[in-house]
Amino acid sequence: MMDIDMPLDIAFIRRQFPFLRASPPPVYLDSAAMAQVPDAVLNAMTQWEHSSRANVHRGMHARAEESTIAYEAARSTVQQFLNAKHSDEIVFTKSCTEAINLVARSWGETHLQENDAIVLSMLEHHSNIVPWMQLKDRKGIDVLWMDIDENGMPRMEDLEKHLKTGRVKIVSVTALSNVLGVTPDLQKIIALAHEAGALVLLDAAQAIAHMPLDVQKLDCDFLAFSGHKLYGPTGIGVLYGKRKLLETMPPFLGGGMMIREVHTEGFTPADLPAKFEAGTPPIAEAVGLGTAMEWLVAGCRLQVANSSHASSNQQRRTGILWDDIQPHEQSLLQHATCSLQQISGLHILGPTPDSQLLTHGCVSFTLDSVHPHDLTEILGRRSIALRAGHHCCMPLHKRLGIPASTRLSVGVYTTKEEIDACVQAIVEARKKLNT
Ligand SMILES: Cc1ncc(COP(=O)(O)O)c(C=O)c1O
Repeated sequence: MMDIDMPLDIAFIRRQFPFLRASPPPVYLDSAAMAQVPDAVLNAMTQWEHSSRANVHRGMHARAEESTIAYEAARSTVQQFLNAKHSDEIVFTKSCTEAINLVARSWGETHLQENDAIVLSMLEHHSNIVPWMQLKDRKGIDVLWMDIDENGMPRMEDLEKHLKTGRVKIVSVTALSNVLGVTPDLQKIIALAHEAGALVLLDAAQAIAHMPLDVQKLDCDFLAFSGHKLYGPTGIGVLYGKRKLLETMPPFLGGGMMIREVHTEGFTPADLPAKFEAGTPPIAEAVGLGTAMEWLVAGCRLQVANSSHASSNQQRRTGILWDDIQPHEQSLLQHATCSLQQISGLHILGPTPDSQLLTHGCVSFTLDSVHPHDLTEILGRRSIALRAGHHCCMPLHKRLGIPASTRLSVGVYTTKEEIDACVQAIVEARKKLNT
């Protein structure tokens, strides 16, 4: 437990991650691909397996009830984490990718017609491109693009131009680029889209771990993310959707538990959110995700709120606050950017230094005459984990005129020493590769 006023204790945080307890510890700078998982999450999942393992919403026995309570408690935690109005606006999926596919299939198939258009930004991950391309092939809709400016920010004038056609039904954009680390002006995009009668889906796969996302304040219509980038398990994702929209959407997958009744002639779907959760859901994973959120932020909010009778210096928390995470991650990224910039021939992608734009989560770069795969392979041999390639953002890389880049990404457990070790290793690798 930490006092409210205590600064973020990184050593204390790192001790909670089995992966980081290895000796010597790996230099893990690939949290944008997958964050590591703390003991609290693993313990909650093991605890569920040991004492509550049973299917949910089916059995009448005690374990089945306990399991259902744990699963629905996880849903409530996600609801609080996102500040969603209703818990049935939270749908558990396999991943962020599946959540976006759910919207493209279920909402897209039934609400779009030929000549309707959707808008994407040039920053998008393939998970927020391909489902819409598939819809384009099936329905004859148009996919319109927001280009990016010199800082990597989606061009609002493109959005305004597309919206003026009156054909745009949904704008689907990332809340945080997994390559450039920039956050588009979400409030403005949502306001402009709504004014033009279009919906907005936010791909929060990256943003979810780096900034508070309040779906009511943002007023987004859909929001998708995966558990594994938020210190939670794999195999679980979330779709948030406004209740009034989810109610108009047909089920995405068919199977057990998503029905009210099945006849020989057909079926009627269940109410929300069961309608979208066909078959046995990822129960242990949902419990793990809820715990990850409590571990990270929600737990402390709840605990502080519950201790309103205690004087402020008696208030304790079990989690970390965004007010701690954000300055820590900001200072890591600034340190990484400054250090990388010292390497000759290294080019940082993203905002220009004088733009004053804050980036989050990652910094990507290219190095003259060195292929990102060669660089990351050499670093990998020294237990330094970076990511190389197009990061599932081929259109963005094409737009930037490069085939691939190298990405360094941070999490709440990252240290400046890890960044220094990485920068030093890049300098050495470069010498080796250029000789
Ligand atoms: C911005 C963004 N969107 C979507 C995804 C897809 O997430 P997942 O593979 O967990 O479904 C990722 C994963 O890297 C991402 O970075």
